[in-house]
Amino acid sequence: MNFRLLISSLALASVSTTFAGTRDISPNLFGVFFEDLNYAADGGLYPELVQNRSFEYSPSDVNWGTNPHNNWYYFTSWAMERKDGICTISLESASPLHKNNPHYLRFKGLTAGPEGVGIRNDGFDGIPVNKGEKYDFSVWTRLVKSPSLPMRVTLSEKGNIISDTTVTISNKDWCKHSFVIIPKADADSASLMIRFMKPATVDVDMVSLFPQNTFKGRKNGLRKDLAEIIAALKPKFVRFPGGCLTHGDGLDNIYDWKRTIGPVEQRRGDKNIWNYAQTFGLGYFEYLQFCEDIDAKAIPVVAAGVSCQNSARKRGTGQEAIPMEEMDKYIQDILDLIEYCNGPATSEWGSKRAEAGHPASFNLEYIGIGNEDHITPAFEERYRMITDAVHAKYPDIKIIGTSGPLDSGEDFDAGWQIARTSNTDIVDEHFYKGEEWFRNNLNRYDKYDRKGPKVYLGEYASWGSKLSNALAEAAFMTGLERNGDVVEFASYAPLLGRIGHCQWNPDLIYFDGRNVYPTVNYYVQQLFGTNSGDKIIDGVFANDVNYASCVKDSNTDDIILKMVNLTNEPKPIAARLPSLKGYDTQAALTVLKGESLDDTNGQGTPGKISPENSGLKVSRNFVYPMPPRSLSVVRIKKQ
Ligand code: AHR
Repeated sequence: MNFRLLISSLALASVSTTFAGTRDISPNLFGVFFEDLNYAADGGLYPELVQNRSFEYSPSDVNWGTNPHNNWYYFTSWAMERKDGICTISLESASPLHKNNPHYLRFKGLTAGPEGVGIRNDGFDGIPVNKGEKYDFSVWTRLVKSPSLPMRVTLSEKGNIISDTTVTISNKDWCKHSFVIIPKADADSASLMIRFMKPATVDVDMVSLFPQNTFKGRKNGLRKDLAEIIAALKPKFVRFPGGCLTHGDGLDNIYDWKRTIGPVEQRRGDKNIWNYAQTFGLGYFEYLQFCEDIDAKAIPVVAAGVSCQNSARKRGTGQEAIPMEEMDKYIQDILDLIEYCNGPATSEWGSKRAEAGHPASFNLEYIGIGNEDHITPAFEERYRMITDAVHAKYPDIKIIGTSGPLDSGEDFDAGWQIARTSNTDIVDEHFYKGEEWFRNNLNRYDKYDRKGPKVYLGEYASWGSKLSNALAEAAFMTGLERNGDVVEFASYAPLLGRIGHCQWNPDLIYFDGRNVYPTVNYYVQQLFGTNSGDKIIDGVFANDVNYASCVKDSNTDDIILKMVNLTNEPKPIAARLPSLKGYDTQAALTVLKGESLDDTNGQGTPGKISPENSGLKVSRNFVYPMPPRSLSVVRIKKQ
């Protein structure tokens, strides 16, 4: 049949579909999951430009067996800077500036020479700076020998000095020195040098170079371009801080939120389960502030009293459980977290939030307990203890449980079974699959029980960044919308990947020190996030169409259709809408498409695929010719 004939026969056929009215769906369906993986935090969203600023990187952060991070130790990213002078550096811990920041560098300059001697930091693959912008420089020092000392702080790239400031220090106790640096040229890969201009012995810690131009201009804030590209997804929620990072590599590595708040020099860092270190410069306060800034609900996840089952590289069998005698304290920490988020500024933990500059509550509504855990008796016992305690003290907080790492199987069934018989409102599902799986499971949630706990699809992605992957995800997401009465939340994972430092691929957004590179999959997420609704309109498409959805957004009353063509041929799709009285029948059309299903947006190059905007004349019954290999979004605006 030719295309025109097909369209007219579809137009006739569409009249016979049943328009079955509207159903409420989750108004918060699409959001993001942020985990410090792939240098997503330090070297990523947290824009500190000095790497290993407090000399706390440790060889024990790294699993040397599988990841030959060259040179991962207390002086990673640091080097001595000595032209004509003689100096040594050593790592000390006898009297640190704070017990949570135990190591510092002792610098001994025996001779200084005309250029001075000191230390140099090369940041994360070099330090990028912009001409004329302001950067807060700070360093903690303590003079051990020398009454006073000129300290010269220089930014330079390939020998070109782009900022140069000298101050005199004379403090015999730990003291922070701060000033603003304004580079006189752009640099992609500068180095920061701290040189001492006379022979001296001086202790150094917490060296920081931090852009003032952060997201929303916040102090200790977030990297602007990365925060903006996340915000542009219009996520309704942010799940954080992990992932496997949350339940950690063994009990000692379970994410401890209390370590992540307060002055940054007092936050005790930790190893990162993904084989590097976490400084916690990006901590709970910063996460919560970010959620508020982008109008997204915060979904913190805490460990369910057990560590990751892959701890100590024992794949699947490494789960460790917090001893029962320590569970009261662990549960109290979780209750304290909720108080930190929501408690009055006069409460013990609410006052710490107020001290950080946010006396008002962050209005936390959800908490995740556990992350794709192996569902063992030890897990279940602790999960029930935690959920009972949270529910008893905070009955309004909705609890999100877990169903293991796979889309089905023993852990999946056991996780769901526990959820049905405990204080669990929502169950977190995770699956990473081939694109065919997504195409074959567009109806996954059609048969889910509408009376039990709801679903949070907390982590999903097809294995790839090609257009075919993105479209398979898009088609699957129309199924999430059609089932938005049972699927409360969904988030693609992982979110960020620093090029050259990824432990996990694919990721939604790639970046380097200067640029961000959205994948095709990113644009799918963005089109769904910016065109979400809170009602599904059933019966718009013929019943066997499982690659399209139609929602209504009560805020605007706009009607939004999403249609996915996974094939290499144009494909007409018939739509039958409810009355369009009061609507502008000249609709906005946005299409994401490509020349080949294998197209990708690449990493480190500007992408070739991005959404294109145009218009479309619609009527109550219309046939839309879906372009080959495309996601089309039609927004019919209420006038
Ligand atoms: O998203 C990457 C990882 O995938 C998460 O840390 C974990 O929850 C899952 O295995």
